[in-house]
Amino acid sequence: MKISYTSNRFLMFIIFTACLCLYFAIQKKNPDENEDILIIPSKFEIPTSKYTTISGLKLDKLPNQDDVIELFQVWKKENGRVYSDPEEMARKFETFVTNLKYIVESNAKRDSPHSARLGLNNFADWSSTEYRETYMTLNIDAMDIVNEDDVEDVTCSDPPSTLDWRSRGAVTPVKNQGLCGACWAFATVGAIEGIVAIKTNNLTRLSEQELLDCEPVGSCLQGSVNRAFIWIKENKGIASEDDYPYTFKKDVCRKTTIQNSANSGIDSHHLVERSERGLLCAVAKQPISVSIYAESPSYQLYEDGVFKGEDCPLDSKNVTHSMVIVGYNSVNNEDYWIVKNSQGTGWGMEGYMWIKRNTTKMYGVCAINAYAFNPVKQ
Ligand SMILES: *[C@@H]1O[C@H](CO)[C@@H](O)[C@H](O)[C@H]1NC(C)=O
Ligand SMILES: *[C@@H]1O[C@H](CO)[C@@H](O)[C@H](O)[C@H]1NC(C)=O
Ligand SMILES: *[C@@H]1O[C@H](CO)[C@@H](O)[C@H](O)[C@H]1NC(C)=O
Repeated sequence: MKISYTSNRFLMFIIFTACLCLYFAIQKKNPDENEDILIIPSKFEIPTSKYTTISGLKLDKLPNQDDVIELFQVWKKENGRVYSDPEEMARKFETFVTNLKYIVESNAKRDSPHSARLGLNNFADWSSTEYRETYMTLNIDAMDIVNEDDVEDVTCSDPPSTLDWRSRGAVTPVKNQGLCGACWAFATVGAIEGIVAIKTNNLTRLSEQELLDCEPVGSCLQGSVNRAFIWIKENKGIASEDDYPYTFKKDVCRKTTIQNSANSGIDSHHLVERSERGLLCAVAKQPISVSIYAESPSYQLYEDGVFKGEDCPLDSKNVTHSMVIVGYNSVNNEDYWIVKNSQGTGWGMEGYMWIKRNTTKMYGVCAINAYAFNPVKQ
């Protein structure tokens, strides 16, 4: 399967290249005569004007120049981009082309139809530096060093073979951090929303803004999931999102004037045992906050499929971004976590990513097993 898929691609590529050479050879030899024998379309990659949307494009061959320009126009419209001046647009177009090349190269290397595919998502005109500086704010130094005694040895005898907390009413709709690196707040609140819904049968959107404003160390530039859980425990809960909405920046703390959402308190939280089994047992009980290394363009431009983080460092302390695992499943014998991000629905699969699980890597893909936290509520 694997081999024939790859070699088919390669064969097609050779045929296309050969056709292209032939096309130019014919054109050179007979510049004026027999125009109508040139039936090979010059724009075979992505037919110009034939697509009206970016989503679903395979993007495993580099489109020709006209098509790239049109892709940029369609993408801009679809993503509501308005640039302040032609210089900014030119700069953004350049970044877009760089990203497109990366997408095409990466997609051409996929080894199975379920491997992660990259695409022109909402971050297609962001450079990797912009993306890193905005979102990769989780600072492992700022995270309290966790005492091994605090590690929760979650055991379970028979976890379900697949699980999706979204269909069990324990996951709120995907949120959007905007231009603020508060992933730590979103990953904490997502896990709290989950356990509160499981314990009370009431799914309520809770407030990242309260954490951002009131947790003293956390900001749009750095933060710690561990500290955020401690803050919520000591605060005996957290406000609802409706009462304390998100403003995209750290503001004055208003916890004395805004009430906690009913039953939003937790008793404690633990670091989940750092293993495949530990994380599986933890997710079988509730949505779990995790941190991963996410600085690569393959994360920024992720579209769908099983992300394997081949270029992630092996160092378990090198994690840069937090998210929430909301379930797990398998496709064609590939096991994956279902992970909720907080960068809007214009990234990944409507804001979600599949990350490979059940690997032999000590801390899992991009160290996803290394800093998993579960809030505990009676
Ligand atoms: C769910 O919780 C919210 C926030 O505490 C509350 O306003 C709402 O009435 C609750 N809904 C139900 C059905 O209990
Ligand atoms: C994390 O890993 C990346 C990629 O391997 C490397 O460039 C970076 O220096 C590492 N950061 C730390 C703090 O180790
Ligand atoms: C992990 O993979 C192995 C081999 O493919 C499989 O037998 C096992 O059931 C998987 N474990 C989990 C927890 O999915």
